Amino acid sequence: MTDKNNPLQFATAFEWIGGAQQVQALTTRFYDLMALEPQFAALRAVHSPDLSSARDKLYLFLTGWLGGPQLYIEQHGHPRLRQRHMGFKIGVIERDQWVACMAQAMRDIGVPDDLFARLNESFYNTADWMRNQPDAVEGAPQMPTAAGAFQPQIKQKLHRILEAYGVTPPKGAHE
Ligand code: HEM
Repeated sequence: MTDKNNPLQFATAFEWIGGAQQVQALTTRFYDLMALEPQFAALRAVHSPDLSSARDKLYLFLTGWLGGPQLYIEQHGHPRLRQRHMGFKIGVIERDQWVACMAQAMRDIGVPDDLFARLNESFYNTADWMRNQPDAVEGAPQMPTAAGAFQPQIKQKLHRILEAYGVTPPKGAHE
């Protein structure tokens, strides 16, 4: 029987999450929450009124990022994510809302607990690197670190972000 919390059973995070169907569900839920929930208004405001291109591109990107087929690269070339985000004002609030919105979407589609914890941290790292506004409190954005690097301060920040936006992590996910 498949144990959804045992990563050894899956060759990639793409398989672990449940393949294309779940990546699609995650992307759809993420943008639905962004459009609907008032606590993500600052994040929504950065986006254009029509979210369909963003929905499509995030699905393609996440598929490859999780270790599935490199759909984004095939259709749009190298992601150059930081560069592609330079035209949007991204500070701590936008970063936090992106991370919280994605965490809620992961909870809503039932991402396995251990995978949730790992992805939550990877999303935080990537979102932090996307910041392009000066911030006196948090300092310069941090380059995403190698997967699995132990960073207690990031776990604390994530805990604070999820709490602030009312996202309940799976039990033990931030231990
Ligand atoms: C930190 C906060 C973030 C903000 C405020 C933000 C905002 C945006 C906006 C406004 C767009 C343009 C959407 C459109 O085409 O209409 C976009 C595109 C995109 N974002 Fe983000 N984003 C953030 C973080 C992230 C993260 C963490 C990822 C990946 C894990 C990501 C992946 C993408 C991708 C793949 C695209 C499409 C790029 C393209 O081909 O133009 N974003 N984002």
